[in-house]
Amino acid sequence: MTATPTTKGSVYVETYGCQMNVSDSELMLGRLAADGYVEAPTPEEADVILLNTCAIRDHAEQRVLGRLGELKGVMKSSAVVGVTGCMAQRLGPTLLERARHVSLVIGPDGYRALPALLEKARTGERAIETSFDLEEHYEDFTPRRFDKVKAWIPVQRGCDYRCTYCIVPTTRGPERSRRLADVVREVEGVAAEGMSEVVLLGQTVNSYYDGEAGFADLLRAVGRVDGIRRVRFTSPHPNDFSDDVVRAMAEVDTVCEHVHLPMQSGSSRVLKRMLRRYTREGYLDCVQRLRDSIPGLCLTTDIIVGFPGESEDDFAETMSAVESVGFDDAFTFKFSPREGTPATRMPASETVPDEVATDRLDRLIALVRAKARNRNLGLLGQRREVLVERAARRGELLQSRTRDFKTVLIPGPESMIGRYLTVELTGTTGSTFTGAPVNERLPLPVA
Ligand code: 5AD
Ligand code: SF4
Repeated sequence: MTATPTTKGSVYVETYGCQMNVSDSELMLGRLAADGYVEAPTPEEADVILLNTCAIRDHAEQRVLGRLGELKGVMKSSAVVGVTGCMAQRLGPTLLERARHVSLVIGPDGYRALPALLEKARTGERAIETSFDLEEHYEDFTPRRFDKVKAWIPVQRGCDYRCTYCIVPTTRGPERSRRLADVVREVEGVAAEGMSEVVLLGQTVNSYYDGEAGFADLLRAVGRVDGIRRVRFTSPHPNDFSDDVVRAMAEVDTVCEHVHLPMQSGSSRVLKRMLRRYTREGYLDCVQRLRDSIPGLCLTTDIIVGFPGESEDDFAETMSAVESVGFDDAFTFKFSPREGTPATRMPASETVPDEVATDRLDRLIALVRAKARNRNLGLLGQRREVLVERAARRGELLQSRTRDFKTVLIPGPESMIGRYLTVELTGTTGSTFTGAPVNERLPLPVA
């Protein structure tokens, strides 16, 4: 896309990390569109290149540094390069020193300054904006949504937990929630545009509190917006699943039967050192309460192996928790020390050697896969309501999802994207399914 004389030029945004970052990229692109920028399909053509980055593990940062090096070779010589998001917040001026072709560094609370800082950068000035703004929710920005079927709705920014491994409180600042009325207005807006699924986003989303309304109120209010058929949220903290929240999940029939519930470790000793504020039993109890109230609940999780001091016995506890919960899927990570976090101040003698952590990760992944495969094989032949999300990467197929978050590949034309169908689950790779549409309509699962 070449810039027309009425535009300020073209912008290309590349997003790393979590859905919150995807949502922030949508906000930035929306803001820049309002300022007269058009979107560039590739970095080669862009007048402005923004990398919206993640700092959660060293690997995420190394990828961005590699990408910055690559871009130097392909970008227009006049292009302005900006680094935004968590890595920008964490590294600040160091980024400008390390990468001479970067002229803008903006943290997650600084996107309001983006148009003004871009103007300056285009005249050769380099700038950093990494202050926190506890009022900032970008309420007046209109996001440029990437997805036509489901909408990311940020409801909370920042984090007030202090898990000892985690950089997020440093990069995203203190927790604050949007006002319920503002969230509902946004959801009404996306429903009016024809989107029927919303995903509520927050670092510990179920601790949502706007001064009056809590997460249960939010679920009830969002869940009854006309046109919304599916409500999801990510990521909750086990300690914030009050009875009221669990009741709201069970009662609101648009809230889907899937919870991504980060466990991190199955060992109470490790959980304590992670400052997760729950024990193994507390986590398992939370799982039980959710399952008792929400029939057919699908559970996914995050697990870290190789946290400082994790013994083979501790790891065995993680394996046995995975065995007993039977997660539908898990994101598994090797501990990555993040400078400035309390975990990096634990005695060096407690560092888990890399080969030990790798071996544990391999064993954990094998167990997670085997359990998921068994569960999924047991679902073959069942009928489910799916929402068609997009064209699948392979073949002529479409990718659709069940309410309980299973991916189902089905045949059909792209015109079916955004539609709800009933499918029979006909095959599984162990993780994803193939399905055949059936004519009958299924009622929504009874809460
Ligand atoms: N090392 C490895 N994994 C981490 N996570 C967060 N911080 C770290 C770290 N320092 C994982 C947690 C979290 C997920 C988003 O990333 O499992 O839930
Ligand atoms: Fe998202 Fe956390 Fe990564 Fe920031 S550090 S992009 S909040 S996952």
